[in-house]
Amino acid sequence: MKEVMLCLTHSWQYPGLFLALYLLLMPLELQALVSSKPNIVILLADDLGIGDVGCYGNNTIRTPNIDRLAKEGVKLTQHIAAAPLCTPSRAAFLTGRYPIRSGMDQTEGARVLTWLAGSGGLPPNETTFAKILQKQGYTTGLIGKWHQGLNCRYPNDHCHHPLNHGFDHFYGMPFSLISDCQITQPPEMDMSVRSKYWYYTQMIALAVFTLIATKLTHLGPVSWKIILLLALFNFLFFISWYSSYGFIRHWNCIMMRNYDITEQPMKLERTAPLMLNEVISFIKRNKQGPFLLFVSFLHVHTPLVTTENFTGTSKHGLYGDNVEEMDWMIGRILDILDSENLRDKTLTYFASDHGGYLEAQDGNTRRGGSNGIYKGGKAMAGWEGGIRVPGVIRWTGMLPEGKVISEPTSLMDIYPTLVHLAGGTVPQDRVIDGRDLMPLLKGLVQHSKHEFLFHYCGMHLHAVRWHQKDSGNIWKAHYVTPVFRPEGSGACYEMKLCPCFGEGVTRHDPPLLFDLSRDPSETTPLSPDTEPLFHAVLKRIEEAVEEHRRTLTPVPQQLSHYNFMWKPWLQPCCATFPFCGCDKEKDDIVKWTTVG
Ligand SMILES: *[C@@H]1O[C@H](CO)[C@@H](O)[C@H](O)[C@H]1NC(C)=O
Ligand SMILES: *[C@@H]1O[C@H](CO)[C@@H](O)[C@H](O)[C@H]1NC(C)=O
Repeated sequence: MKEVMLCLTHSWQYPGLFLALYLLLMPLELQALVSSKPNIVILLADDLGIGDVGCYGNNTIRTPNIDRLAKEGVKLTQHIAAAPLCTPSRAAFLTGRYPIRSGMDQTEGARVLTWLAGSGGLPPNETTFAKILQKQGYTTGLIGKWHQGLNCRYPNDHCHHPLNHGFDHFYGMPFSLISDCQITQPPEMDMSVRSKYWYYTQMIALAVFTLIATKLTHLGPVSWKIILLLALFNFLFFISWYSSYGFIRHWNCIMMRNYDITEQPMKLERTAPLMLNEVISFIKRNKQGPFLLFVSFLHVHTPLVTTENFTGTSKHGLYGDNVEEMDWMIGRILDILDSENLRDKTLTYFASDHGGYLEAQDGNTRRGGSNGIYKGGKAMAGWEGGIRVPGVIRWTGMLPEGKVISEPTSLMDIYPTLVHLAGGTVPQDRVIDGRDLMPLLKGLVQHSKHEFLFHYCGMHLHAVRWHQKDSGNIWKAHYVTPVFRPEGSGACYEMKLCPCFGEGVTRHDPPLLFDLSRDPSETTPLSPDTEPLFHAVLKRIEEAVEEHRRTLTPVPQQLSHYNFMWKPWLQPCCATFPFCGCDKEKDDIVKWTTVG
């Protein structure tokens, strides 16, 4: 556009002639790009497995709207998340970089942010695609889950907040759904915290008594202030775990509009309708475009909050109901794009942040998703089921319809793809791991630009994928795999989530090698006897790992013990701390406004 303008100002006498000439000489594709930047709609599911979607082979769950996107666009069958859990996977998605580069994956502490009032989160010096699109003239919105932190050092410094990461508008949940958010569910976080923190409570109480004794007997210089503070802290600590007030729910389960808390705690049964209304009004408000709308669903994460209209309607219990409700919401969003005449002007992308949650069970009832033919699931970084997710991209008129691409692609690819479509450039001062998808989607090239993909579990490299382009083989070498409990069950049912290191994993030397192009379910590891290239393949992968390691630099760890700890002074609170509670939504609507 700039060049066109330049051309016009230099030749103002004959603008029409010059413009015509200019357009005539420009390659067709460039013309389309210059003439309009597409709107971007990102639909990201939480914990949805690749086996839960109709167009990925599920014939008993109804996802007609995701299927419709695939029919009208491109379906990626080897679409890989950079991490098998929310916080790191989303950090990678937003930055186009492996989470280890931004310090957003486990080193010593937790694997995801566990408190809204922790101090870790997406570092302010990371540049999200939203930030670049904003600079390129896009109106940017995030509706739904964030889970990338909130404050750094001071109450309401909002250093990790979506509005500080390139979004003009935010409505949603800054944290993540946990079962504690729903009153009727057993509060899992509360229970685990209780068992863990009872020890600390006693230790702090002991310290307080020792200090009082020291003070009273004049044995050492201790200030009453310190004692009082410590005692108060411990008291808060204590009542929070042992009262029935539900502090964890009040502190973590909140909804915000930009910087304002709208509900604390949120009323789950109306969250999805409220989100959908917000999506519709965002699209209508910004239909002149260009806009970027990131709809980050709370579906299908446990506790599977589902409205009445969808409860008991699927063939797969509450989980299936929840999937079908999300698909219906996607349908409403596609409808609004149609009715506002935006379909051809909008690139719509659907994916899940990582694989389905196999260990989610309620007695014998499954509460988590299916990863189809793939081994493993959520929290498992190396096995395909943890990281291979549905990925569908539609841009009618610009991308082929109904095309299936089975080349390895990454969720991180969305970053450079969107940045280029918006006419921007990716940051040059850091490594970007994603690759522009457009040439592959359009069929201008046959192979994706990824030769190697690294599958990290926290800071531990669990596996590496090598796409050997000349032969078409997709090799995968596993250095570390989780120990399934019970043995042979295919998941870590006894621990709820498979760990990245320690007792719960097995190291492999030589690595377990599979060829996914022949054995996508990773059932039979290759050996030098069955695979003549065994040693050569491992050697090439080893070289790639060395090369990759040289690009890593140490960065502050966002999930360190200190950072993920709950900090009372960082607690967002819309009433008098610690009793945080308010409800600023106009009414108690629980019904969809546009059920059809
Ligand atoms: C479809 O999804 C449901 C729910 O996750 C699952 O139980 C079922 O096995 C899936 N079916 C197929 C054919 O993958
Ligand atoms: C962000 O800041 C940290 C701490 O100063 C630094 O280690 C890191 O390299 C910076 N990241 C980028 C992308 O500049």
